[in-house]
Amino acid sequence: MGKERIVILTGAGLSAESGVPTFRDKDGIWAKVDYREVATPEGFARNPARVHEFYNMRRRAHAGIRPNAAHAALARLEREHAGEVWVVTQNVDALHEGAGTQNLIHMHGQLFQALCNACGSRAPWAEDLSLTTVCPACTNAGGMRPDVVWFGEMPYHMERIRDLLEAADLFLSIGTSGNVYPAAGFVAEARASGAHTVELNLEPSEGCSLFAESVYGPATAVVPAYVDRLLKDL
Ligand code: OAD
Repeated sequence: MGKERIVILTGAGLSAESGVPTFRDKDGIWAKVDYREVATPEGFARNPARVHEFYNMRRRAHAGIRPNAAHAALARLEREHAGEVWVVTQNVDALHEGAGTQNLIHMHGQLFQALCNACGSRAPWAEDLSLTTVCPACTNAGGMRPDVVWFGEMPYHMERIRDLLEAADLFLSIGTSGNVYPAAGFVAEARASGAHTVELNLEPSEGCSLFAESVYGPATAVVPAYVDRLLKDL
């Protein structure tokens, strides 16, 4: 015992109780904003100022937002579990790292990072981006974009994630609706590799029937309780 390799997929539901809006809930971001305008390469090509405005607003909204008890429980799991724990997050916020998680993969990119379309370099970014922002690496103006994966783009680190899923003994999916691939397909990949699969979410997700075990409730309640139990059982 103690060698179990745990892979945890997280989504917007994990950060909801920190005050970060989800995407597909009743008051979610995609109920108010057309994703084709702000989260596709075509939308950025058509109206880059609109896209910058959307992400600048989201970046600013993060001031004062703190990790919640669910982020803290996952960081504790990594610290206290004798085996390997990896968090693969679809969230672009910085709340996992804020809580102390170290083995972290941002598969949909990061709000606080910018990517230069001209030279491909990345830079930490806490300020607004605009059409005149200058790339600190190549000094070109106008090519900077948020380093966030948009619809139609390939999520980051997929090879590494597939290796982790293949080796996983336990796969947890937390706070995600299971609508967006490839992340929605991870449960099937983990199952095929022989992992035990568990969903923790406010309500059954799209792919809920694919999980061997399910726990429903708000993340700040169910995640700390699940981690407590896991650390006792392992
Ligand atoms: P969604 O908004 O699609 O789903 C959030 C899930 O969290 C839903 O199933 C909710 O029921 C659940 N939820 C809400 N509040 C919760 C709480 N307090 N505790 C636990 N669960 C809660 O968000 P994601 O699945 O993360 O991608 O969306 C996936 C991707 O779609 C995002 O990364 C983003 C989006 O478009 C891009 O922008 C490329």
